[in-house]
Amino acid sequence: MELLVLGGTVFLGRHVVNEAVARGHDVTIYTRGLHGAAHPDVEHVKGDRADLTPLHNRHWDAAIDTSGFDPEPVQASASLDLGHYVFVSSCNVYPDWPDKPVDEDSPTWQDGEGYGQGKAAAERAAHAAMDGRFATVRAGLIVGPHDNVFRLPWWVSRIMRGGKVPAPGAPERSMQIIDARDLARFLVDLAEQRVSGTFNGTGPIGQTSWGELLTAAGDAELVWLPDEKLIEAEIEEWTELPMWLPAKYEGTWRVDTTRAQAAGLTTRPVLETVRDVRSWLENGGADELHDWRSEFRPKPMSAEREAALFRLV
Ligand SMILES: NC(=O)c1ccc[n+]([C@@H]2O[C@H](COP(=O)([O-])OP(=O)(O)OC[C@H]3O[C@@H](n4cnc5c(N)ncnc54)[C@H](OP(=O)(O)O)[C@@H]3O)[C@@H](O)[C@H]2O)c1
Repeated sequence: MELLVLGGTVFLGRHVVNEAVARGHDVTIYTRGLHGAAHPDVEHVKGDRADLTPLHNRHWDAAIDTSGFDPEPVQASASLDLGHYVFVSSCNVYPDWPDKPVDEDSPTWQDGEGYGQGKAAAERAAHAAMDGRFATVRAGLIVGPHDNVFRLPWWVSRIMRGGKVPAPGAPERSMQIIDARDLARFLVDLAEQRVSGTFNGTGPIGQTSWGELLTAAGDAELVWLPDEKLIEAEIEEWTELPMWLPAKYEGTWRVDTTRAQAAGLTTRPVLETVRDVRSWLENGGADELHDWRSEFRPKPMSAEREAALFRLV
């Protein structure tokens, strides 16, 4: 198939390209050429999503959009000659997430500004323009090699340094992640098979636990800190100890994925993901991260801040 990837050089997009090339597809990527690395075997058309002129008068059997955040550029892409369109969205489209468990029928943002609101509006625009040839995949927490958002790599790097490591909540607390390579496989499947619809794209509920995930990263001594202690220490939710939200957010790791699994989404063992992230870091992976959106990368916690946390136990 002739596949257009809108994006394709940083993290998820890079894995989408790898997967599609490995399956023998003819891949074109469209990016500005500012960030990341283009696969050597793809056609790289350079340009901004705000002006799609370089893509006019061409046909692709499908497009996978990893770089759409707002309705206008996504609607504009719908005017290209594309057979099928697969959009990478986010669980942030649900106002109820992370407070409550969600499935694909949960309400989505209908107005307002912000990341989730932009994704929801982009979905609606694409749906209106390409009904019957459009799929959206609302991704959960994406992890794996080349992760520029650096949440799981933050933990793996910290655990690789060793010593006492503050660990949030309790080891048995549930977690749900998606390896970018598994998500990429699913996205390419949807494009190949021209599947339409809306899917949550993450691991199954109860897939893993904090204990399993952090233990897989190395042999550091994990010091488990209950939510109350982290709140008392004013640890910033989600970012300061990445991926931690207090248990009162009951839906954080309860995103239903039954529909995606029925459509073919499978997830590799988390131990494999952690091993590969570790190996990516050992081989200098963090140096890639001056790249796309690195300003959002969580900062390492200082030794003083860690020590203050341990004194609370
Ligand atoms: N990380 C998570 O946990 C998570 C969770 C849920 C959903 N998501 C979604 O998953 C996707 C992740 O994408 P990724 O960053 O890994 O994708 P990627 O395709 O690997 O990288 C982003 C690409 O977009 C291109 N780009 C950015 N702005 C552009 C513009 N104005 N015009 C043309 N190209 C542009 C960048 O290249 P240039 O800068 O060189 O143009 C780069 O190739 C996003 O849609 C994100 O919202 C992520």
